[in-house]
Amino acid sequence: MSTPERPHTTTDAGIPVASDEHSLSVGSDGPLLLQDHYLIEQMANFNRERIPERQPHAKGGGAFGTFRVTQDLSDLTRAKLFQPGTETETIVRFSTVAGERGSPDTWRDPRGFAVKFYTPDGNLDIVGNNTPIFFIRDPMKFQHFIRSQKRRADSNLRDHDMQWDFWTLSPESAHQVTYLMGDRGIPRDWRHMNGYGSHTYMWINAAGEKFWVKYHFKSDQGIESLTQADADQLAGSDGDYHQRDLFTAIKTGQFPSWTLHVQVMGFEEAKAYRFNPFDLTKVWPHGDYPLREVGRLTLNRNVTDYHTEMEQVAFEPNNTVPGTGLSPDKMLLARGFSYADAHRARLGVNYKQIPVNAPKVETHSYSKDGAMRVQNATDPVYAPNSYGGPQAQPGLTDDGGTWHSDGDMVRSAYSRHAEDDDWGQAGTLVREVLDGPARDRLVANIVGHLLEGVSEPVLLRAFEYWHNVDKHLGDRVEAGVRAARNQA
Ligand code: NDP
Ligand code: HEM
Repeated sequence: MSTPERPHTTTDAGIPVASDEHSLSVGSDGPLLLQDHYLIEQMANFNRERIPERQPHAKGGGAFGTFRVTQDLSDLTRAKLFQPGTETETIVRFSTVAGERGSPDTWRDPRGFAVKFYTPDGNLDIVGNNTPIFFIRDPMKFQHFIRSQKRRADSNLRDHDMQWDFWTLSPESAHQVTYLMGDRGIPRDWRHMNGYGSHTYMWINAAGEKFWVKYHFKSDQGIESLTQADADQLAGSDGDYHQRDLFTAIKTGQFPSWTLHVQVMGFEEAKAYRFNPFDLTKVWPHGDYPLREVGRLTLNRNVTDYHTEMEQVAFEPNNTVPGTGLSPDKMLLARGFSYADAHRARLGVNYKQIPVNAPKVETHSYSKDGAMRVQNATDPVYAPNSYGGPQAQPGLTDDGGTWHSDGDMVRSAYSRHAEDDDWGQAGTLVREVLDGPARDRLVANIVGHLLEGVSEPVLLRAFEYWHNVDKHLGDRVEAGVRAARNQA
């Protein structure tokens, strides 16, 4: 008897099925029949349940929420979602970088902090991390960097030698590795960490004036971390610790929130700033560019189907809406291609029609056909046309943010600004931000990491690397490793 609470089972074609438990056979003990199409449908569907996991950032979770503007920054951007009082639906996904889909949440790693805003001008995606910086500044090295953090070809094991080999041959990684080896390298949970857009982005106001901005989502719960020992223990006892924490908090009405701030740099100031403001391995010191509040992001609704709403959610930094744009950060520009390409490979060309990725506004694009397309195309299917099809209106867009560029094609590092180097800001973090106990934990974490399978030539480079960050820190790391090795 079918009731609203217990409806009758159907096939995927809606046909009532005869049994949830017994396949159709010739006699009770006899062979199975090919016409048991429901059994076949169940087996076929099961065999195709898994889709490829994300290449990096495979393990993660998140929730839906809202973003409400609390301050008036309309002099800096015309983006509708940032206008005073505006409320925008969002989805957020947190993740680790190197681990696979089933890997422990508490491995030391940066955490992804990806936000999709469903705005009246289409989707804006800010695809950041819980760190304001990154390991490299040129996208040519990204693939190699991620491979060095994942698994070896021969043993299929993760390998600290490979990680330190890459890092010590890439001195621009020093700032991010210092951050990673410190307390913030293992957040207590996703609620107790900040999110940073990390890159420099563009804002454009109604008069067409341009500004450079950096996004900071500061946790209203405060920052809390796990010690290496606690994280190691949790990795064994509850690999989904962060996922569980967020899901349970939201289910029990404890909605986590983050206050969004921006740092704002005048468009022309970028040229003469003491650091190259588009170099992703650098922050803009708060003393130079203070934080300005924008609004509050609150997560208040768990997903109901992890697969359709989290595994298939597709963030892409190229999703910028009018009033926002990219910047000359080479990493960001490469990401502008990479993500949509990854989604086409992983989810199919029509991934933007999956409800979690679809904008909340009507689309009028000339895209057409392709695997799994569900939205009907309408004539005329080409532009220009004289039959009433959509027409681009340049005034509605900022074209993803534009800037002047005119030079020879070169393969080169960024232009150097007065105080650019690979070690300075990492040293500031060690000497001026961390207190004594935090520095002790930093040393212990680095020493512990280096003791796990790092070979002598790489180890010597690692000592030099830490000496370059801070002489005293380097001495302590070297002494700690040598002492532990002598004892072993
Ligand atoms: P400030 O003293 O103004 O800022 C230091 C910032 O460091 C804090 O605001 C906090 O960022 C962050 N911080 C606090 N404790 C830790 C920790 N244990 N590990 C990592 N970060 C921590 O100085 P500056 O702005 O001049 O920056 C100095 C250094 O601080 C930088 O070189 C950088 O390493 C680090 N930092 C700077 C940020 C920036 O955007 N300017 C952001 C984060 C770190 P928050 O308030 O975002 O939590
Ligand atoms: C995920 C590429 C740098 C944050 C991914 C994915 C790719 C990728 C291919 C998987 C996407 C998917 O399958 O859904 C790159 C490249 C980079 C780069 C080419 C540099 C050139 C960065 C940086 C950040 C970042 C600097 C943070 C500031 C993220 C996040 C995710 C992700 C948060 C997971 C998104 C989600 O939750 O679905 N990256 N990435 N990446 N990346 Fe990057």
